[in-house]
This record gives sequence, C-alpha cells and structure tokens, in this order.
Amino acid sequence: MKLNSGTLLITGGGGYIGSHTVVQLQAAGYRPLVLDNLSNCVPAVFERIEQISGQPVELIEGDVRDSVLLERIFSRYPIDAVIHFAGLKAVGESVQQPLRYYRHNVQGSLTLFEAMQRHGCKRLVFSSSATVYGPAATMPVNEQAPLAACNPYGRSKLMVEEMLGDLAAADSDWQIALLRYFNPVGAHPSGLIGEDPVGVPNNLLPYVAQVAIGRLPQLQVFGDDYPTPDGTGVRDYIHVMDLADGHLKALQALTDGHGCVPYNLGTGRGYSVLEVVAAFAAESGRPVPYDIAPRRAGDAAISYADPTFSRQQLGWRASRDLAEMVRDHWRWQQRNPNGYPTE
Ligand code: WQD
Repeated sequence: MKLNSGTLLITGGGGYIGSHTVVQLQAAGYRPLVLDNLSNCVPAVFERIEQISGQPVELIEGDVRDSVLLERIFSRYPIDAVIHFAGLKAVGESVQQPLRYYRHNVQGSLTLFEAMQRHGCKRLVFSSSATVYGPAATMPVNEQAPLAACNPYGRSKLMVEEMLGDLAAADSDWQIALLRYFNPVGAHPSGLIGEDPVGVPNNLLPYVAQVAIGRLPQLQVFGDDYPTPDGTGVRDYIHVMDLADGHLKALQALTDGHGCVPYNLGTGRGYSVLEVVAAFAAESGRPVPYDIAPRRAGDAAISYADPTFSRQQLGWRASRDLAEMVRDHWRWQQRNPNGYPTE
C-alpha cells in the first residue's frame, strides 16, 4: 500500500485481536492511533503493548458512534487507512439484545465510514467473521460459500459487509478488505497480552484455560453426538498472532483497483473439542475435567476454512499449530490468572 504518513486509525484496538494487531503494526513501522471506548478492555492492555513494542500507544478514548469526535480525529491526523475492530461480538448476547448489537456494530460502522468519506480516507480493513456463512456452507468454506447469518451478531457483520460492497461499487476509490475470522485463540508469546473475557467465557479456549488455572471447576462439552470423528464439534482455531499478521497483509493489499474483497482467515484444519482439551492438558500439564452436556443451540457440527484465496491474494498463511496456540494461551493465563490488572 502506498503509505503517506503511515498513520492508521485502529478502532477497538484495546480488544483481544486489536491489541495483538497493534503490536504487529508498531513492529512494522506504522503509527497506530487507537480509538477505544474501553467497554471491553482495561487501560492495562496499552501498558502491556508498550512493554512488548517499546512504543507508547496513542489512545483516543471514545466511541465510533461519536461523529463529532471522529470529525476531530480525521481533521487532526493524516490517517492513511482504518482497521475497524470496534463492536460487540457475543453471539448469545446478540440474540437477547439485537438492537444494541445493530446500534453498535451497524450504526457505529456507518458513522465511521461517513467520517472516512468526508475526509477522503478510503482504505479500510473490516473485522468480519465466519459467522456470516450459513449452516449450508460445504466444508472447507471458501469465500464464495452462501452467506446466511443466523443470529443478530452475524447479521450485523453481514450488513456491514454489504454496505461496504455497495460503497465500493459506487466509488472505486474505496479499497476494502473484509476479514472473516474463524476461531481466534492463543496469545502473544510474551504472555503479556491475551484474551480476557468479561465474566464466564462463552468460547472454548478461554473456558478451558480457566478450568486449567482453577478459576472454573470443569468444562461442559456441548454435545458428543455430532457427525464428527469423536462426536464433538470441530472448528478452525487460528492463532491470534497469525490473525494479526493477516491484517497487515490485507492492509498492504489495499492498492488502487483492489475494490471490496472478502478473505477467510483460518488455518484450513479443524480440531474437535476433545482434541483441544487433550492438547491443553498436555501443554499445561494440568487436568481439564469435563462432562458431556446437551448441544448448544445454533452450533454447527463442523466449520473450517479453505484459506487458498487468502494465501494466493495476500501471500498470507497461518503458520502456528494447535500445540503453539494452547501453549501461548496457557502462558498468558498462567501469568495473568485473573486477566489484566484493573487498578
Ligand atoms: C467452539 C466449540 C462449541 C464452549 C464463536 C462465534 C464466532 C466467533 C468465534 C466472533 C463448539 C464448543 C464451547 C464450551 C463447548 N466469534 N464449546 N463448551 O461457537 O465456533 O464461534 O466464537 O466472531 O462468531 O460464533 O466458538 O469457542 O464458542 O465454540 O463444548 O464451554 O467448542 O460447542 O463446538 P464458535 P466457541
């Protein structure tokens, strides 16, 4: 990508994937400005990023829905491109609170894109999700698979993807990458930053990590009667550092003529729940007690990516295997048994 100032706006840069991406952006010589409302992260994450990179994080505390703040930001800084992470992302919660999800994820995105347009900033990496693929998608999932989100969170991501497709069709100056994440796990190898969910984790890896560290008594395996080798759900887990690297590659691909393009960010390999549990127990040396519970509503049996297009177009591929994912996730959990310090 032709860089003028190297200045980037990273919305939600204090979150799990955002923070790991900021570390990699700093290492690559960019100047990431983080806009975060701190609703799903604590200030300690920015100190930790600086401990890793040696560079202070320029944080603007605020919300992407604040058009006055966005006007100030784009007027003050020479922003070359935006990576838009900010949003709500709990599937179950989205079913209970659909309007909150549309307000944050859709209205927030619209407000951001309008500010970008007003200031001629038309390069965007959008944090999307494999949730936009419907249950009918055949495995492995490629970018042409049918899109049919089946919950408000996934629908909010799909709506924003479609808004961006319309925008790029109307104005060829827009260069946009839609990054569809599969299952992000792991942590920076330093153990200084990682996933720190609020409350009881919804996702498998943080839940297993909290069982291994002793914060939770045992794992509930949601169903062992799926049509999979061991009966438990299969997912494409991808190391958050591989994911962060995918954002840099996507950013660099946003040259003239790119248009609006979706990319799957997955490894192309699926692992079952029990394989993850076994890997975690092996890497941590801790028991991970579990029992079999009923299936969770809305869960697919199997989901894993065909990452061919991302490899061909972005020159990107995930390089870290399951052992490294759980090893790094465990190091973060061991060094931060209760997550980030809050004082
Ligand atoms: C993985 C597997 C569960 C917890 C979700 C969102 C997706 C994305 C990633 C945002 C499944 C099983 C889980 C537990 C279990 N988020 N499981 N016991 O559902 O594939 O994807 O997170 O973009 O949008 O849908 O991830 O980690 O919740 O579940 O047995 O306590 O682990 O049934 O098979 P999922 P997950």
